[in-house]
Amino acid sequence: MSHNDPAKIVVEIRQRFQEKGTDMYAGEAISQTEHALQAAFAAEQAGESAELIVAALLHDIGHLLHKHDEDCVTQGIDDLHERIGAQWLVRYFPKDVTEPIRLHVAAKRYRCATDAEYASRLSPASVLSLQLQGGPFDSAEQMEFEHSPWSQEALRLRNWDEAAKVPDFETPELEYFLTYVQRVLQQQTPDTDE
Ligand SMILES: [Fe+2]
Repeated sequence: MSHNDPAKIVVEIRQRFQEKGTDMYAGEAISQTEHALQAAFAAEQAGESAELIVAALLHDIGHLLHKHDEDCVTQGIDDLHERIGAQWLVRYFPKDVTEPIRLHVAAKRYRCATDAEYASRLSPASVLSLQLQGGPFDSAEQMEFEHSPWSQEALRLRNWDEAAKVPDFETPELEYFLTYVQRVLQQQTPDTDE
């Protein structure tokens, strides 16, 4: 794949959704693609940047890349999807996209440590994966997270992630949000506008 060809990268991402997007989002009554679209839609509704809308759309792409079963969490396996996803995306996307994705599990661990009300609202599947991911942060981990330049974006992404689990919720389609992907990639390419 040419490193700077936005059209080819969009094709590759579309293919990942086509191949694995119908998998169920672990333990929830919606598919991976529905979850991604609902998260991206929430970011758009919140008036966020194209980069964060793309981050929301692609935050769980690690689930579409790894080889574990869709229910690996119930088998006691942490699929490390946030790292797999960010590592794959970092070849093409700016840090405004990849860092909130890399930190979206850390954001959950942070909020569970600092916000009891949030922790009590987690879905059962999310509680299960939290344990596999290391549980709530201790105070040293909380401080480290707070010092990350991307912690606020990761926490906002976490909110859209949490909200994006509604069965039969209407959103624009994948093709609509892929136009944001294309736009962000084009801004990355040297010698296009600016
Ligand atoms: Fe998610």
